[in-house]
Amino acid sequence: MRYSKIIGTGSYLPEKVLTNVDLEGIVDTTDAWIQERTGIVKRHIAIPGQTCSDLAEPAALNAMAAAQVKPNNIDLIIVATTTPDQVFPSTACIIQQRLGIHGCPAFDIQAVCTGFIYALTIADQFIRTGAANCALVIGTEVLSHIINWQDRNTCVLFGDGAGAVVLKRATEPGIITSKIHADGSYKELLEVPAGIGVGFDAVNNPLYMTMRGNEVFKFAVRTLERIAEETISSANLTRDDIQWLVPHQANIRIIQATARKLNLPMERVVITVAEHGNTSAASIPMALDVAIRDGRICQGERVLMEAFGGGFTWGAMLVKF
Ligand code: ACO
Repeated sequence: MRYSKIIGTGSYLPEKVLTNVDLEGIVDTTDAWIQERTGIVKRHIAIPGQTCSDLAEPAALNAMAAAQVKPNNIDLIIVATTTPDQVFPSTACIIQQRLGIHGCPAFDIQAVCTGFIYALTIADQFIRTGAANCALVIGTEVLSHIINWQDRNTCVLFGDGAGAVVLKRATEPGIITSKIHADGSYKELLEVPAGIGVGFDAVNNPLYMTMRGNEVFKFAVRTLERIAEETISSANLTRDDIQWLVPHQANIRIIQATARKLNLPMERVVITVAEHGNTSAASIPMALDVAIRDGRICQGERVLMEAFGGGFTWGAMLVKF
């Protein structure tokens, strides 16, 4: 049987840091409110002109170094992003060129905060079916470019960054199972209501995110509890078989609710939301990289990753390291 396994991780954060205290000078908010309601203390923000491929390239190089693979070993590139450099070419093609890789398939997928789970699921399918042997999967975002910095409902929540993994053919499962879902009927709760089809312009209809946070929050908590159970039981495992939870880092209260449902103590949950904020498709691979590099996640351990985001989209994946 063919399976796939994560053999290296990497991440990259832009240098510029924006603290909650900095935000107090921009909108009507307080450090105390942001910490209490979200768990966020600071986030990294791209400088003008810094694109999601600028963040993705060093993250990819870090993952390839950790995996000890060379550019010519990579035969598939998938980039999950909501904030691509351009309409086209895809950010994956831009990264491919920057890494000096030629000829292999390279494409973007767009599932907002669930993007990395979607991308890894697709890469796993390519490897299992024999269509690829060694995939580079990246989540990268410059959400700060689609934030209305006058809107306190959203601007305190998001940050920029990139995370990457190298996924390689294996004889035993690395990726045990994954479940991905979407329901487009909740579009108005979380969207950028501007774009090619509906039009946009810098003054009257800019590319800004809007969110009805409280409604999204309730839906996210219910859905993430369900998807975690669905994923674990589909692998004929139980909650006791999971050593780590690496959740999408949207809000500490959402993460705590999922951990409670799974009966996992918070010491078994990788949390980066305080330092990174919500980095959408980049949040899971960045958190994974942190916990692998600091030695928390060890060989042989099972990790549940789960995410919820715009679309709505949601998904979870069970991985053995
Ligand atoms: N500072 C101070 N007060 C604020 C701020 C702020 N930054 N933002 C909102 N408030 C106020 C509101 O105006 C409201 O005031 P009111 O009671 O006078 O009307 C009050 O705080 C409470 O607002 P709620 O929206 O009910 O606050 P809530 O506890 O729900 O927290 C939050 C808001 C943090 C946005 C939360 O709802 C959340 O995390 N939602 C889910 C986000 C998420 O997971 N999104 C999916 C992924 S993102 C993606 O896919 C791109």
